[in-house]
This record gives sequence, structure tokens and C-alpha cells, in this order.
Amino acid sequence: MSKASEMLSCDIKDKSLAEKGRLRIEWAGQDMPVLKAVMERFTKEKPLKGYRLGACLHVTSETGNLMVTLKAGGAQVALCASNPLSTQDDIAACLVVDHDIPVFAIKGEDNDTYYRHINAILDMAPQLTMDDGADLVSTLHSKRKDQIDKVMGGTEETTTGVIRLRSMAADKVLEYPIIAVNNALTKYLFDNRYGTGQSTVDGILRATNRLMAGSVVVVAGYGWCGRGFAMRAKGHGAHVIITEVDEVKALEAALDGFRVMPMIQAAPIGDIFVTLTGDIKVIDTHHFEAMKDGAIVCNSGHFNVEINIASLEEMAVKTRKLRDFVEEFTLPDGRRINLLGEGRLINLAAAEGHPSCVMDLSFANQALASEYIIQNASGLKKQVYDVPEEIDRYIAKLKLASMGIAIDQLTEEQIRYLNTWSQGT
Ligand SMILES: NC(=O)c1ccc[n+]([C@@H]2O[C@H](COP(=O)([O-])OP(=O)(O)OC[C@H]3O[C@@H](n4cnc5c(N)ncnc54)[C@H](O)[C@@H]3O)[C@@H](O)[C@H]2O)c1
Repeated sequence: MSKASEMLSCDIKDKSLAEKGRLRIEWAGQDMPVLKAVMERFTKEKPLKGYRLGACLHVTSETGNLMVTLKAGGAQVALCASNPLSTQDDIAACLVVDHDIPVFAIKGEDNDTYYRHINAILDMAPQLTMDDGADLVSTLHSKRKDQIDKVMGGTEETTTGVIRLRSMAADKVLEYPIIAVNNALTKYLFDNRYGTGQSTVDGILRATNRLMAGSVVVVAGYGWCGRGFAMRAKGHGAHVIITEVDEVKALEAALDGFRVMPMIQAAPIGDIFVTLTGDIKVIDTHHFEAMKDGAIVCNSGHFNVEINIASLEEMAVKTRKLRDFVEEFTLPDGRRINLLGEGRLINLAAAEGHPSCVMDLSFANQALASEYIIQNASGLKKQVYDVPEEIDRYIAKLKLASMGIAIDQLTEEQIRYLNTWSQGT
């Protein structure tokens, strides 16, 4: 261990939660066969040996499995939360107690603690960063510039992070290469769609215990997360309305059988509103003004900026916490609007995040992308790169095999046909 990492200890809620975390990591691991295969190889080959890797991710049971995999690959890892409300304290405890991994994350930490924890990761002088939302990378680029030349590369987990990093690259301020794990097909097609789809329903139901069937559910954003959630809400019997700003996505939603309209028209009709856009103020003052009594609003996009919470607080004459993750705001005319999970990702705040089966794909991408950076560091520029196609295909292949699914292979004749332009009718 380097001097910097020896200085690290941890900042977690309670070490005695480790036993619970151990069992939950084991349970999640049972549904993560691709990551397990990566771990088995990493254990033998140690491709990350001697590298310091600072991770800023949601501290969940699946992340626990990823951290153990990276350590098995020889990396010195340290982990902090990528969201103040998404940490599972038992997982943090298990990683510290059982695996000697420095973790800085406490569920419900305030903003100052959140950034203190990010800085604790940077204190270990990471050579690789693994980020979810780009708060670690942006802190490094704004407040800890002196150590940036030690970083050889990083990975980014989510859509919002990739957007931020691409804008850093466009402004020519990005100081090292990043692999956009989010943009792997085996990531967003499954994690963003099926993972967010199921876990957002899970978070809303755990927070409210309301019946989805017959409810009018308004979904802002018909990207990968939005379409996953809309599909699952429809499956629960909800009347789903989509709001969009992109003509093509709006058209797709309409042809998928959803009603599409502007948020201001949906506002008086909706029972439950969910934002999944990565954008700000998608639900704003004039929308609150039009909502009916008892409306429920929540967010499953990365940051807590999609709902204008400051405005809701200003409008309210009374607020009270009704149950865990439900805060009621009473407006001057007596209407009540319920905000879930402080406007933070509801699937991680009130539920457990994505099921392990999809995080298996995302985190196999993370582990293999880290190895790729080490192997290719000298040839990579200060840009945002996609995950190499061979990694994507390798992961899909392993996942299919683990599911007992075989597929057809192209014949030589088919390969020739698919590569020719001369053969027509
Ligand atoms: N909850 C989770 O666990 C989880 C998982 C993955 C991604 N995310 C986050 O969810 C967000 C969406 O990710 P994605 O992969 O679906 O992105 P995406 O780019 O595929 O989709 C976002 C959609 O929102 C639309 N949009 C933008 N502004 C809008 C507005 N004002 N009103 C209505 N629609 C608007 C865009 O046109 C786009 O279609 C991001 O912040 C991402 O980081 C969350």
C-alpha cells in the first residue's frame, strides 16, 4: 500500500451490520455469473495489481461484489457513495470488516459529508477512477487538480455522468481518458431499461404502498430508463402518460400505445409523476399549481434537480413527513403534494436499486473497462470512449450461456451474403 492509502480508514454507519451485508452480498452474487467469471480470471491473472482505484458508486450489494472482484484483480480499492441516499449501510460495513476495503458512505449523509467522502477517496491518489454521475471526476478537476497527472483513466456508469464528461471533453478540460460504461449495449439496454423499470416501481411501491392499477402515472422522459419504467407501470395496470421534448421519442411512445402530452396538460390528471430525464425543473412551479390534491411526485433520474423542490418548499404553507420517504407539502388552497425520497433516485432511496441480474452486466463492463484502460493507457487520449465492442459481445455471450440460451451461428455462405452488394433479387 502507498502512504496515501495507509492514511485511509473509513466512515460508515455501523461495523456491526457486516454480517447482514455479507449475506446480502452473497445473495446478489448468486445472480451475477458474468462478474463471477471475471473475478475467477482476475484472481488468477491479477491484471489490476498495484493500481489504486477510487470508486464513487451507489453502495449496494451488487457494488459489493464489484469491489471484491476489483480487489481480487489486485487493485487497491476505496469506495464512496455516488448519492447521499443510496448507501446500504450493511454493505459498507461488510466491505470494511470482511474485505478491508476503505468505504466512506453513510445513508442520509448531508452534502458536506458527501463531498468530504469524495475527497477521502481522492486522498488515496487514485490512478483509476470509477464514477457514477461524474462528481468524483469533477471534484478532481476543480478542487484537486494538483494530483490529476497521476490518473491514467476512468470509467463512468450513468447517462448523466457521460453527458457531463462529454461536455468537459468538448470544453477541452478533461484531463484523462474515460470509458463510458453506460454506453455499452450490455449496459443501457438492460440496466437503464429493465433495471430502472423494475426498481423504480419497487421504490414507489415500498415508499407508498399505493395501488398502481387504475392510477394515472405520468412518466417524464422516454429514454432508456423512461421506457423501461413506462413498460412496467403499464404492466401493473396503470394508465401511463409520457411527456417528452424529443419528437422521435415522443412518436415512439405514441406508437408503443402511450398517451403523449406536455407536462402542463398531464399535471391535473396524474396521480403519480416520475421524472427520468437527466434534465432540470422538469416538474416546476406551474405544474405543482395545476396538480390535484394528493398527487405523488418522485424522480428516478440521476440528480435531485428534475423536480423543483425549492419552489415546492416555497409554495407550501405546511410540510410534514408522513412515512419513510414521503413528505407532504400543503399548498395555500389546501391541496397536498407528496414528494418521495427527497427527489433523489427513488429506486435507490426507497428500494435496493437494480436487481443483481442486470448489475451483473453493468459491473462486468466496469471491471473489464478498468482492465482495458490499464492495458491501453498509452494509446488513449483525453476523450470519452465507448466500451470496445469485443467486451460488450463477450459479456452478452457469457450472460446467455449462464441463462442456458444457445443461438444460431452464421454459416460461411451467410457471412459472404451479408458482406456482398452484388447479390440482389
Ligand atoms: N434510477 C437509476 O438507477 C438510473 C439508472 C440509469 C440511469 N439513470 C439516470 O436516469 C436519467 C435518464 O437516463 P436515460 O439513460 O434514460 O437517458 P436518455 O438520454 O436515454 O433519456 C432521457 C430522455 O429524457 C428526455 N427529456 C429531456 N428533458 C426532458 C424534459 N424536460 N421533459 C421530458 N423529457 C425530457 C430526453 O429527450 C430523452 O428522451 C439520467 O439522469 C441517468 O443518469 C438512473
